[in-house]
Amino acid sequence: DWTMAEFKEAKIKEIREQVGDGKVICGLSGGVDSAVAAVLIHEAIGEQLTCVFVDHGLMRQGEADQVVSLFKGHYNIPLVHLDVETLFLNGLKGETDPEKKRKFIGKTFIDVFEIEANKVGGADFLAQGTLYPDVIESVSFTGGPSVTIKSHHNVGGLPERMNMQLVEPLRELFKDEVRALGRELGLPEIFVGRHPFPGPGLAIRIPGEVTKERCDILRKADAIYLEEIRNAGLYDAIWQAFAVLLPVKTVGVMGDGRTYDNVCGLRAVTSTDGMTADVYPFDSSFLTRVATRIVNEVKGINRVVYDYTSKPPGTIEWE
Ligand code: XMP
Repeated sequence: DWTMAEFKEAKIKEIREQVGDGKVICGLSGGVDSAVAAVLIHEAIGEQLTCVFVDHGLMRQGEADQVVSLFKGHYNIPLVHLDVETLFLNGLKGETDPEKKRKFIGKTFIDVFEIEANKVGGADFLAQGTLYPDVIESVSFTGGPSVTIKSHHNVGGLPERMNMQLVEPLRELFKDEVRALGRELGLPEIFVGRHPFPGPGLAIRIPGEVTKERCDILRKADAIYLEEIRNAGLYDAIWQAFAVLLPVKTVGVMGDGRTYDNVCGLRAVTSTDGMTADVYPFDSSFLTRVATRIVNEVKGINRVVYDYTSKPPGTIEWE
């Protein structure tokens, strides 16, 4: 039978054959897929690989630092870290349409990446962490024949423009297999086991206008929620859990004062591939604890609600 160790060796051989002595550039998103692809390719071709981390400032708390320390510290893989938060936040100013937000982020990601790739000079190959469900999903999505539910954020279009060939070593794999491969490559469990995170990041978890202030509020609430999930030992039983910050203010009371602040939504689902999803049935005492902590600890939020919608008819993300 086909073990992950064998798969790894076969892929390394394949990558070496495809790339020869060419140069490869790989865009890191902060997620598991691009990280596993990058580490695998680095094992195959070493210094012929350059990784570029386009840090759009829409990551979860501490996530950008984790990526940098994993690549530079743990693996000693050359990494260009581009801090382009201001560029992204300026471009998102005033934008409230979910598809326009997605498209702006996808396009800007490619623009920044392309400029950097040109600086690296003469890369012949573009590496991507495309998975099997991504291949399927770009053909037919949940909405039936050729209905675009959401524009997915990836670097499609870039290879043609830059005259590069694709290296996509994870194309046959499902998420759980990518995780197994990551473990085989020695990636830390905290990284490998992490819930999926969408390319457009927190921007699609902040319905309405995205600002630095709103990102910071959401990061704090999300971190509390995930800390409680980990403490309760539930993290690995959940496909994805995250907070969203709603563009709605409601009245509350704290101490002997009136508050008028934002609503935070909590989402948690189980799934095998993200195509369909069920709501995770937390105990009410768990949700009460999280809600209390968020309202007490996060300035800017005075109400917390739980999302009870499965997919379909809901999607996992809110935009
Ligand atoms: P939805 O919200 O469509 O999400 O039910 C299904 C899964 O895909 C993730 N997702 C994305 N991943 N780029 C990504 O890499 C994207 O633009 C994107 N949008 C959604 C989502 O987090 C969930 O796991």
